[in-house]
Amino acid sequence: MGAQPAGPRGIEREKQIAAEAAAELVEDGMIVGLGTGSTVAFLLPALARRSLNIVCAATSPRTEHAARELGLRIEDVASIDRFDITIDGADQVAPDGWLVKGGGGAHTREKIVAGAAERFVVIVDSTKPVQALHSPIPLELLSFGVRATMRRVAPASLRDVPLSPDGGVIADYHG
Ligand code: A5P
Repeated sequence: MGAQPAGPRGIEREKQIAAEAAAELVEDGMIVGLGTGSTVAFLLPALARRSLNIVCAATSPRTEHAARELGLRIEDVASIDRFDITIDGADQVAPDGWLVKGGGGAHTREKIVAGAAERFVVIVDSTKPVQALHSPIPLELLSFGVRATMRRVAPASLRDVPLSPDGGVIADYHG
């Protein structure tokens, strides 16, 4: 008999377990990239509880605010050229490790902070692994010429959400 899917409370618990395990990977003196989303929301208190001497940069105003409230030291990402570790959630995880990210609308920042990290740790619950990545794929588009871009990336739809913190338009690719 296969494993039963976890219910909503089980999923929240899975997120918490993944986040707390990732928090243990952070060491004193590290520069830490903080992702965005409901799984990262469990990471922040777990990290704060460790009272490490670390510098963090956040990928969204939401994460930055929550991290500061918990007493984590947040620096402007503009002053950081590399991260020892970045920890973030994902929307889909394929068996070969490819991810879909950006469901929360923070993906350009998330990709920059992930790309600058020595180690990128993904924290997900059991709803995220997939056999193959599939649509919808979140997109963040420049608002300049967005109608022309949407035509080029069709089939896609604009999301009825605020612009990203960088003024990006959030859309979903359905191909
Ligand atoms: C934010 O833009 C996303 O990439 C999130 O990291 C991703 O959607 C995972 O979010 P949850 O942890 O809320 O599932």
